[in-house]
Amino acid sequence: MAVLVTGGAGYIGSHTAVVLHEAGRDVVVLDDLSNSSMAAVEALRVLTRPDLPFIEADAADVDAVGRAIVDHGIDEVIHFAAFKSVSGSIVDPDGYHRNNVGSTTGVVEAMRRHGVSRMVFSSSCTVYGEPTDLPVTEDSPISASNPYGATKVACEELLAAEAAAGGLDVLLLRYFNPVGAHPGGNLGEDPRGTPDNLVPYLMQVAVGRRESLSVFGDDYDTPDGSAH
Ligand SMILES: NC(=O)c1ccc[n+]([C@@H]2O[C@H](COP(=O)([O-])OP(=O)(O)OC[C@H]3O[C@@H](n4cnc5c(N)ncnc54)[C@H](O)[C@@H]3O)[C@@H](O)[C@H]2O)c1
Repeated sequence: MAVLVTGGAGYIGSHTAVVLHEAGRDVVVLDDLSNSSMAAVEALRVLTRPDLPFIEADAADVDAVGRAIVDHGIDEVIHFAAFKSVSGSIVDPDGYHRNNVGSTTGVVEAMRRHGVSRMVFSSSCTVYGEPTDLPVTEDSPISASNPYGATKVACEELLAAEAAAGGLDVLLLRYFNPVGAHPGGNLGEDPRGTPDNLVPYLMQVAVGRRESLSVFGDDYDTPDGSAH
């Protein structure tokens, strides 16, 4: 039996695929490469196996996910495939909803059709919205403060309802700011376009791909309060 990693060519998914492989699991990666590349897949193959199965497809495509399940004997799914930029979601809320919620409903439908019930869903700390009590716990109230967050809340609600209906055994991951890269140096976070996360942006400045990193704020302990 094998585990399907959607979004497995992306940052967190690719590192997860390596760890699963090292733990002795058969791994299948499905990704539409909308925010990654074949270079990441090749790097992944170097770290796992040269013939690691890779399917270029939209996770919203129920037939494509279904074929992956049948062809590779999938019995568990880790669903990372999503757009993740908060600012991008403010510019294109409908596109974010269609991609993030659509891919989740697509994966769930394919799993249902083929009798697969075990799923790990990559949610986000963004489901805590603007918390009033810190630190947040798993029991803290859920709300969305931007369209990206709204897609994760919608997916969590859908998955909870599916689990309550008995069709799904699902675990939610709500991480904050994942950082780091594989120590081998050939797998890391390499998004298309302008990064929306701090560390990849900083790294692109460090290697000269971008000129500078803006540090916002006006109440620093400096003569004019700026960060300079
Ligand atoms: N990186 C973070 O700071 C962070 C924090 C919390 C949660 N998350 C969540 O973790 C997951 C992975 O994040 P990441 O940082 O690895 O992002 P990433 O963009 O590097 O990886 C996501 C991958 O999913 C693919 N993808 C997007 N939509 C798809 C679709 N419809 N079908 C198939 N593939 C699709 C992209 O091409 C990309 O390879 C996302 O669900 C994200 O919302 C990320």
